[in-house]
Amino acid sequence: TRPITIQTLNERRSAGQPFSCLTAYDATMATLASNAGIELLLIGDSLGMVLQGHDSTLPVTLEDMIYHTRCVARAGTASLVMADLPFMTNTTIPQTLQAAGQLMQAGAHMIKLEGEAWLAETVTALARRGVPVCVHMGLTPQSVHALGGYRVQGRDAHQANAMIKAATILEQAGAGAILLECVPRELARQVRDALSVPVIGIGAGPDVDGQILVMHDMLGATTRRPPRFVKDFMMEAGSISGAFRAYHEAVTTRGFPAPEHCF
Ligand code: KIV
Ligand code: NA
Repeated sequence: TRPITIQTLNERRSAGQPFSCLTAYDATMATLASNAGIELLLIGDSLGMVLQGHDSTLPVTLEDMIYHTRCVARAGTASLVMADLPFMTNTTIPQTLQAAGQLMQAGAHMIKLEGEAWLAETVTALARRGVPVCVHMGLTPQSVHALGGYRVQGRDAHQANAMIKAATILEQAGAGAILLECVPRELARQVRDALSVPVIGIGAGPDVDGQILVMHDMLGATTRRPPRFVKDFMMEAGSISGAFRAYHEAVTTRGFPAPEHCF
């Protein structure tokens, strides 16, 4: 199969064909997910919760992210590989370039970091050096203690307008994609329409270009009650590969997310 690139995602956006994304932390699952057609694999710092047993993503280190990025990249799949910059590895532009460089050398094709319009200069610094950047907006789990919990963002008009404006600024700064977590469906649609780069959603409704879920959540491998936007694809599929195929199929045909998964 032809490798998926950032250009592929742009083409899907232009054609109005949604693409599927999933977190992956190891080579075997990366291969199964990619073989099921999933276009993008994210080494998410959610690994702090689903692999390491922490109750937030804050304890995850750059070394942890490099290790899991290497594991996923070694699978050599056709999917695009994106890796998260973990908590406090982007406090200055030099630190960010250093950390992103290590993740790219570990095999990532794109870097994701959490923030808002204040990240514009950082995004430009990365983009100029050939590092494709995705900015994670809305519910940004590294800020859980500032947000006062894992809750829907952008509910009031002021917050919503600020988010649309920030996304536009970040696109102008060179962001190659935007990821929206836990925002009302209508706001996600407005952000998507304001931009020309792909918008990936999680708990952001169906009117975006791509969908992403945490692998453990969509396999029903959870120890706490999963958030409203999660669907357990294992329940009907009965096998891991079947669940990945069902998820990919549901996303590409706009069968997922359904209204009950949206805010
Ligand atoms: O770390 C992660 O898994 C993520 C997704 C929830 C988007 O950032
Ligand atoms: Na993350």
